[in-house]
Amino acid sequence: MTEGFRPPPYPYDRLDELKALADQHEGGCVDLSVGTPTDPATAEVIAALASSNAERGYPASIGSLAYRTAATGWLGRRFDLDVDPAHLAACVGTKEFVALLPQLLHLRTPERDTILFPAVSYPTYAMGATLAGCRAVAVPLDDKWRIDIAAISDDDARRALALWVNTPGNPAGGLDDLGAVAAWGRAHSVPVFSDECYIEFTWSGAPRTILEHGSDGVVAVHSLSKRSNLAGARAGFYAGDPDLVEYLSEVRKHMGLMVPGPVQAAAVAAFGDDAHVDAQRDRYYHRLERAQQIMAAVDAPCDLPQGGFYLWARAPDGDAWALARTLATRGGVLVSPGEFYGEAGSDHVRVAVVQSDAQLDLVARRLDVS
Ligand SMILES: Cc1ncc(COP(=O)(O)O)c(C=O)c1O
Repeated sequence: MTEGFRPPPYPYDRLDELKALADQHEGGCVDLSVGTPTDPATAEVIAALASSNAERGYPASIGSLAYRTAATGWLGRRFDLDVDPAHLAACVGTKEFVALLPQLLHLRTPERDTILFPAVSYPTYAMGATLAGCRAVAVPLDDKWRIDIAAISDDDARRALALWVNTPGNPAGGLDDLGAVAAWGRAHSVPVFSDECYIEFTWSGAPRTILEHGSDGVVAVHSLSKRSNLAGARAGFYAGDPDLVEYLSEVRKHMGLMVPGPVQAAAVAAFGDDAHVDAQRDRYYHRLERAQQIMAAVDAPCDLPQGGFYLWARAPDGDAWALARTLATRGGVLVSPGEFYGEAGSDHVRVAVVQSDAQLDLVARRLDVS
């Protein structure tokens, strides 16, 4: 009998033992492992969620015109882009989009079988390839955690269904040269998918989107999870190359993938407001600085990231699990060992500054950080 697919343990489920150690502290575990927002959504967003009446009928899979127009309005306002709402479609948060994409591209182009993605990255890029029975090929990063597209072999490029990039990057906060990436994709006829869910948390220079470099052969992927603290509502979109957006949205309609109507109404309110994002940026930046002091106190000094809300710290002696254990035991705090994001990150830990200042202060007190 041939062995079928067995899902590997979910990365964060592997932290249960460390969580139990951290929980022994008075006040319990401070969880900085999963990047799940804990700050509130705005009152307007919650009101829209509760009062749209949109729960009655089936929502449009591509998103209502109001949803798509609110999203293009945000792209125009914040990034000076002029995107036609016809070239943008909703996704149910972006994780499902990332996980399903290889399967949908492979159905259309069965002679290709490879997904390219950054060697240290969000694990779902590789998992999506695996779930589609495709090859997951990691592309190395340079010393600033930027994708090194020159390292992609001709054979992998010929076989590639897609190249994923992620700017600002999770977990290391690197900023890619998206113009160069778009040009590489066009030169090799490989569609580029640019995951830009941390775009509002760009700390170094102006925010970057691949759509600044035209839409031919590229798709930008965005989420309200981080921008607007709506991870529990599940709302995102993808926009760019008209042919790719049309194909993907047609297949996804057949699959019944829909952002619930009330969530679409809430998303319209969220896309329409920037003040709450400015407040969230301030919160995260302040917390990154606080967490940086904490990491220095356990001999893991690190730079602030160029973007995103993660610290990416090299462990003393490169032993990330030992550092995670020290933090759990002494600080009652849970962080993620870097191997969750790829072998090339296995000597680092990722610290998600998603808990309140009071929670970070609690960790600082436990570790005698002033
Ligand atoms: C790089 C990256 N992409 C996509 C996602 C998925 O976010 P969501 O499915 O909530 O939109 C995450 C979540 O942590 C992420 O870090």
